[in-house]
Amino acid sequence: MHIDDALKARRSVRAFKRDPLSRELVEEILTTAALAPSNTNVQPWQVHVVAGEVRDQLEREVLAYRETEPADAAAEFPRANKRKEPYVSRMRTLGKAMYGLLEIPKGDAAAGWRQWGRNYSFFDAPVGLIFTIDKELDQINWVDLGLFAMAIMLAAKARGVDTCALGAWNNYWTVTRRILDVPEDRYIVFGMAMGYADETAAVNTLVAEREPHEVFATFHGF
Ligand SMILES: Cc1cc2nc3c(=O)[nH]c(=O)nc-3n(C[C@H](O)[C@H](O)[C@H](O)COP(=O)(O)O)c2cc1C
Repeated sequence: MHIDDALKARRSVRAFKRDPLSRELVEEILTTAALAPSNTNVQPWQVHVVAGEVRDQLEREVLAYRETEPADAAAEFPRANKRKEPYVSRMRTLGKAMYGLLEIPKGDAAAGWRQWGRNYSFFDAPVGLIFTIDKELDQINWVDLGLFAMAIMLAAKARGVDTCALGAWNNYWTVTRRILDVPEDRYIVFGMAMGYADETAAVNTLVAEREPHEVFATFHGF
């Protein structure tokens, strides 16, 4: 697959078929993705790959926990305020399109809460990934982690496998830490769902538009 075709074909999938992925295939995707560059080649990424009973336990316990401990619905690390322009408009555009396809009306808090919970079901994907990073590393290393995640998404797509990055997993990290035995000196940064898209699901027709380069690129010296 040409790299541009993989970039164009990859989309965040939010409804998966339950068909399993073999460990060998996931290992191949991870091995390929680890070719991603990192600052001074420190390769700061660590990832927990869950399937089967562990995946199901994680889903079950996080969903149960969020019903009783809403106060823990925050990341362990500081999160910036994105509720300003231009970010807030882009978030709203995405939310409107997504909840429209899901037929969840604005203001239906209960349905919104349930749908947000689908993040913790990995949208029914058979494989979940939980990315962690050493707490002592700095922002440039978080960039490395993002590059690794993108490489995973493209290596997966090139093999017909779909993904969705899940920032939601930086919430309820106490449960995830316990179940996966994540050491205290690491942050749980985000998760990812991996599997085969349910092509019949309306939500998977969502296209998140991009701004043209005139909006985000400033050219000098051309
Ligand atoms: C770091 C990161 C975290 C994300 N977290 C979530 C999430 O928790 N739930 C979700 O449904 N989508 C999540 N997404 C997917 C984004 O909404 C999506 O990438 C964006 O809307 C662009 O759409 P596309 O991936 O289909 O091109 C996340 C993406 C990234 C890169």
